[in-house]
Amino acid sequence: MSTAADVEVRLAVDGERRACRLLLAEAARRHELGEVWGAWETSGGEAPRLVGALSVQPVVHADGGREAAVWGRVVRTHRRRGIGARLFAVACDESRRLGVATLRIISDADAGGDSPDVAFLAARGFAVAETLSTFEVATASIHADLEPLAKRMTERGMIPAEARMVPLREAPLRAVARLHAAHLGGTEASVLDSIAERLARDDADDHGVLLIDGEVHGLLFGTTVDGVTTIDAEVLSPTCRVSGGGSGWASLFMLAERLAWGLRRGSRSTRFSCTSGNRPTRRLAKRLGAREVGVETVYRRNVEGR
Ligand SMILES: CC(C)(COP(=O)(O)OP(=O)(O)OC[C@H]1O[C@@H](n2cnc3c(N)ncnc32)[C@H](O)[C@@H]1OP(=O)(O)O)[C@@H](O)C(=O)NCCC(=O)NCCS
Repeated sequence: MSTAADVEVRLAVDGERRACRLLLAEAARRHELGEVWGAWETSGGEAPRLVGALSVQPVVHADGGREAAVWGRVVRTHRRRGIGARLFAVACDESRRLGVATLRIISDADAGGDSPDVAFLAARGFAVAETLSTFEVATASIHADLEPLAKRMTERGMIPAEARMVPLREAPLRAVARLHAAHLGGTEASVLDSIAERLARDDADDHGVLLIDGEVHGLLFGTTVDGVTTIDAEVLSPTCRVSGGGSGWASLFMLAERLAWGLRRGSRSTRFSCTSGNRPTRRLAKRLGAREVGVETVYRRNVEGR
């Protein structure tokens, strides 16, 4: 049986990144795949075998604060050998390098339960910070609610005539990466990498970009698979936000357009997530009659400390 000493942890490059990505599917889905490290078992004279992976990406909050989004996984057969702890040490080093003070981990395990993540996170000094709820609503019903609002806003001239939503593929990708890195997370280079990976997939055209006069002002990422549209990430340029003097048209417009695409792709239900502290989205969920279909726990801890 190998021990952590037989396992090499290092930054994944090229094709290795793809292998690590399979272990970090949740990070990729949430657009939080940043720099990636793999843990390779090197014993036995055989080809190294991937037994764990880690992703660290800086994420930006609406208030401009930054933290490190950390995703990690050790394959079942290799747990309890200190590999998770080694990956965690790398996450701390990377966060310091990025200049962020807080690490954030999302776990779908019940915070009071006895799953390995809960025990691991407690052992590493993480505390429960908030919860993240996923809501589900019938796509046709939410679209029927939003479309007349969007139409009214258009008639009142609140939506610029030059505004349009285009599939990611048709958007100026460097500008998309810049907006993502500045207001959602990642670095321009890491976002361009994940966009390239995304564009190679079937669902690439599901991700929408808001252009005004050809300039990138918003992103609404999410896919429609097997009749379920999942909204994974949304960001607006500061000038389009309500806090930046906007009327709220941009968010509504992106969502209404995106739902129309979903319906054309056979979407029956739409899922979106928000944290316990995000009152506007929770109010919207209630108004739409959305059902809570999942609750995850958000853990945080300072990079320094125990
Ligand atoms: C959480 C996870 C990464 C831990 O990886 P690991 O390699 O097994 O962790 P380690 O061996 O380094 O454990 C470090 C410490 O965490 C605690 N711990 C880890 N798993 C535990 C378990 N099943 N029960 C109790 N304590 C546990 C222990 O204190 C352990 O130290 P010890 O073995 O000296 O007692 C792994 O279980 C996993 O991949 N889970 C699924 C993915 C996931 O939940 N990721 C969320 C965290 S990013």
